[in-house]
Formats: sequence, structure tokens, C-alpha cells
Amino acid sequence: STDARLVVISNRVAVPKARGAAGAQGGLAGALHSALKSRKGLWFGWSGEESESGRTGNIATQTSDGVTTATIDLSQRDVEEYYNGYANSTLWPLFHYRLDLAKYERETGKGYERVNERFAELVTPLLEDDDVVWVHDYHLIPLGERLRARGAKNRIGFFLHIPWPATRLFVSLPYHERLVRTMLHYDLVGFQTKEWLDSFLHYCRTELGAEVDEESGGVTLDGRTTIARAYPIGIDWDHFSALGETGDARQAQQRLMSSTRRRTAMIGVDRLDYSKGLPERLDGISRFFDKHPERVRDLVFVQIAPPSREDVDSYQAIRATLEQKAGQINGARSEVDVVPVRYVNRGYSHAELFGFFRAAKIGLVTPLRDGMNLVAKEYVAAQDPEDPGVLILSSFAGAAAQMQDALLVNPHSPDDLAHAIRTALDMPLEERKRRYEALIVTVRDDNVQDWTETFLTDLDCVPGC
Ligand code: G6P
Repeated sequence: STDARLVVISNRVAVPKARGAAGAQGGLAGALHSALKSRKGLWFGWSGEESESGRTGNIATQTSDGVTTATIDLSQRDVEEYYNGYANSTLWPLFHYRLDLAKYERETGKGYERVNERFAELVTPLLEDDDVVWVHDYHLIPLGERLRARGAKNRIGFFLHIPWPATRLFVSLPYHERLVRTMLHYDLVGFQTKEWLDSFLHYCRTELGAEVDEESGGVTLDGRTTIARAYPIGIDWDHFSALGETGDARQAQQRLMSSTRRRTAMIGVDRLDYSKGLPERLDGISRFFDKHPERVRDLVFVQIAPPSREDVDSYQAIRATLEQKAGQINGARSEVDVVPVRYVNRGYSHAELFGFFRAAKIGLVTPLRDGMNLVAKEYVAAQDPEDPGVLILSSFAGAAAQMQDALLVNPHSPDDLAHAIRTALDMPLEERKRRYEALIVTVRDDNVQDWTETFLTDLDCVPGC
């Protein structure tokens, strides 16, 4: 029933002291914290720490803000094979359409299965019969099946926060069939958009030979039915919009405005990840200044990019590329008193980000592929309704399906980006308001509470609803 205890299981757990560095944590942790805050819930996952005590099975619990977290350490080998390896060097690139970066190693695949088994082993004793269990993201795809193998009869749901790739790409994964079959042990499987859902259903039909009912999202194989549906995630509107009143937000807004003066600030906030399209974004900005060199006095671009997954090679490579490109634009376009690109490798609190978003009259969100992207929604949420900024959004972000009134761009095309920047800079107030008023409806109404309620209500009643 809906007042049963909720148990959330994810790789990353937002422990209270680490909260706030929103730019650094990605959308999942913040969203889950909001979802759990309103119920008596348990959140189980990795502490983020590496230690050999990972083998003792110690579980550290902590209660704060009404949320109890239970975390475990992992051994160095586990982190290498499961987190840096299979999750972030195999599944992450593949699911973001980067077959060129995906590595397929037998050993890391085994490490992934081992850690999923360990999660199941350690969380099972904490589960009560009536608990509703909700597993999150690509790190833990097989966990539901592992829990069933240990006898769990609970309702168990799974939500994928990242895209699901097209079948022809997905089949390049060795043992792809084994991985997807584990998903059919969940009662409900959720995706961010209809596009990712359709790719999943296509795979189940064509590769597994499952019977798929498009209407209900039912996938039937070997006499069992799992329901698969799209649940687009949103922001914690009440919490985020209230941040605008805080001193931190006002100060951050002032700080950015006074340092840019008459120039328009354009902002990007992304984990330093190759899926975010950061080099392509800088190429677009460079193209804009090539076409309109005099406008270096009108526009300053601020890119906040906290480093992420630094032990993975492809993340080190993207960092070097960006340093070179940002340096190149500034070297070629700066004057003694004007520097066009501010490239910042650190995270800021949600309140400070609110202030930066409000000060910036253009928000640039141009991932090459993204499950949803909550920065796009936060940018809109932070705008002044009387004088809103313009959101430039990649049509390859999941958010684009709900945010058709943004300036949609193809992030691979420097000309398209340059053109959108110019359009945004020169957009009249009336049009900015019209777009904002359309966008704010989905940002406000399709929020994270709505997402949680919808998913959990379905989890309670499937397959019969
Ligand atoms: C994305 C993933 C999350 C992940 C976050 C941050 O949003 O969907 O599962 O937690 O990135 O990445 P990290 O590797 O630091 O957890």
C-alpha cells in the first residue's frame, strides 16, 4: 500500500554533509533525497569510500532530515571493476551512444555482478515483508533479480536515469541478453522519456522474443510480466524556487552581475562529462565570435564544470580538451579588459546556482545525449518572470520532449549553436516571456514529488493498472 516503507537503493547516496554541491552530484542524488524526505524511508548504497573493511559487511547508518541512510564501503578492486570499470567505462558510454569509448572487459563485468550480489546480500536482512523497494540506475540493473534469488517477494521497481540506446547499438554489449533478462524480475521499470522506453521495448521484442503490449507497457517472457513505462523526472520545485529568497542566491546573482556589467552572461553548468557536449559547445561559441567579432563586448560565457569520475581515462581526456579549447578562444578573442570565456572547475551550492542562473540571460544546455537533464529545468525555474532569460537546449536531452518552447539546437553543429546564441541575445522581451510562460508550467507542475507519486502509485498496482 502507499504507506508502506520505501527502501531506495542506488549506487550514490547523498549524505547530508555532501548535499548542496548540486553541480557535482548529478540529478539522481538530489531527486532521491527530495523523494525520501516526505516519507519514513531507508536509503541504501555505497558510501563513496574505498576500504578493505568493505569486506566486513559493515553498514553505517545515519538519520537526518527524516531520511535514514545505510551505506557500505567498497574495496579498491570493487571500485575499479564495478564503478570505474563496467558502470562508467562500459554501460555509461554505450548508453550515451559513445560506442567509440565503450570498453568491454570480462573482468569488470564479473566485478559488476559481484558488487550487485554484495548489495543484495547486505540489504536483504534490512528488508521487511511490506517494504516497497525502488532500485536506481545503471549501476544496479541486475539487483532486482539478485534480491528475488534471495527470496524477496516485495514490490520491486527500477528506474533508469540515463538513456536506453537503440537496439543496434545495444547488441554490441557482450551478454546483453543476460543483462536485460535480469530486468524482467522487476514489477515496474521506468525510463525518462518515451524515446528510451520505445528502444527498450523494441529490444525486448526483437532480441528476446518477448510479447510486448504497447498500451500497458507489459513485457511478457516465460510467463512473467514486467511493466515498462516513461516517468520524466522533475526538480524539487518548492525547495528550489524558495532558494531565490536566500542570501546565498542574492549574493551569487550580484557577484555575477557586477562582474559582467553591461555584457550579457550566458551560463552552462555540467559535470565534466563527455556526454554533456562541452567541446562542441565551445566550438559553437568560437563560431559565434568568428561571425560577430564585435560582440565580444556583448557576451561573456561562464561554464561551471566540476570534475567527475577522475580515475576514468576518457574523463581525463575531456578535461584536457576543454582546457585547450577555452584557452584558445580566450587567447584569440580577449582584449586587455574583456575575456569571453570563464571556465570554472568547481561545484557550487544549489542556492548559489540559483543566483547565477538568474543573473545569466542565456542558459546553454547542449548535451550530445542525456537521460533528462535537470539543469535545463533549474535554469527556467530561476528566471525572473518579468524579465526571463532564454534557454538554449539540445534536442538530444530527454528534457527536450517536455521543453519544446526552448530554443532547440543540434549540439553537433557549430553553426546551429552560433545562430541560437545570436537569436537568444537579440530576443525581444515579449518572446522571452512567451517562451518562459510555456516552459514554467512543466517545470513547476511535473516536479519531483509528482514523479515519485506517479511511479510509486503504479508500482503498487501493476500489472493490473
Ligand atoms: C548521473 C547518473 C547518476 C550519478 C551522477 C553523478 O546523473 O545518472 O547515477 O550519480 O551522474 O555521477 P557519479 O559517478 O559521481 O555518481
